[in-house]
Amino acid sequence: MNDIHTDYIVVKAKDNGVQVIGLTRGQDTRFHHMEKLDKGEVMIAQFTAHTSAIKVRGKALIYTRHGVVDTEQ
Ligand code: TRP
Repeated sequence: MNDIHTDYIVVKAKDNGVQVIGLTRGQDTRFHHMEKLDKGEVMIAQFTAHTSAIKVRGKALIYTRHGVVDTEQ
């Protein structure tokens, strides 16, 4: 298994209604999944054969192996 399938990201919502959106891998890049997180909720997600990109909307902390990103900074 390569990093595409082993890497996780962690999204911690700092507000209600944070959206975690999965975008498809392949020819067309489109939304295929949307999760709503409330304040304090945490989602742990992988990049997979189906998911090449993840979009986060709203106030959240995103932890990846590249570091921590605060969507408000
Ligand atoms: N069925 C999706 C997949 O295997 C589930 C998924 C994985 C997902 N990573 C995600 C959904 C990130 C939203 C965001 O690709």
